Amino acid sequence: MITTVIIVLVILYFLKDLFSDIRSVNPLDAAKQESPVVEGKFTPKTLCKYNGSDDPKIFMAVKGRVFDVSQGATFYGPGGPYENFAGRDASRGLAKNSFELELLTPLDQPLDTLEDLTPEERESLDSWEEHFENKYKIIGTLHGENEK
Ligand code: HEM
Ligand SMILES: *[C@@H]1O[C@H](CO)[C@@H](O)[C@H](O)[C@H]1NC(C)=O
Repeated sequence: MITTVIIVLVILYFLKDLFSDIRSVNPLDAAKQESPVVEGKFTPKTLCKYNGSDDPKIFMAVKGRVFDVSQGATFYGPGGPYENFAGRDASRGLAKNSFELELLTPLDQPLDTLEDLTPEERESLDSWEEHFENKYKIIGTLHGENEK
């Protein structure tokens, strides 16, 4: 009799866990599906919106491709060490291992061609690119304002 009660209690305990798991997972999935995935073409000005202030989504461009770095909000979100990269083309900063604002192309200027980078800087940029490819999703491409 006692064993039956214990077995039932154990089963109930696991069932409770199972249901609370389902409950805690589902709303997250639903939320993910609700927020529309912005994909496609960006210009420096449209990318800028995704700097982590107005929208929880944080995007960053590297060598003409736009990565969704929202998962790295501690790096790129407001107050994070690399917040300058959020919503911007980070290529030059990554190449030169600097997050200084002055390395970012102003929003009203043509896209950075990166032509003047040294071989070492190119290598640094390429290895950062690989890091992002392995970690984040590519959601679009970066284009000049007039190119679109
Ligand atoms: C004081 C010097 C620095 C320290 C102590 C530092 C420290 C770190 C640490 C601990 C991480 C996390 C690694 C991980 O968990 O994956 C990281 C990532 C990173 N750091 Fe730095 N860092 C420094 C300088 C820089 C500079 C100058 C840049 C400019 C390009 C930079 C760009 C990045 C980027 C882009 C990431 C990757 C974040 C991601 O995976 O999304 N860091 N750094
Ligand atoms: C982020 O973008 C918004 C506009 O979407 C702007 O008001 C805000 O100043 C930007 N934040 C930073 C840190 O640049």
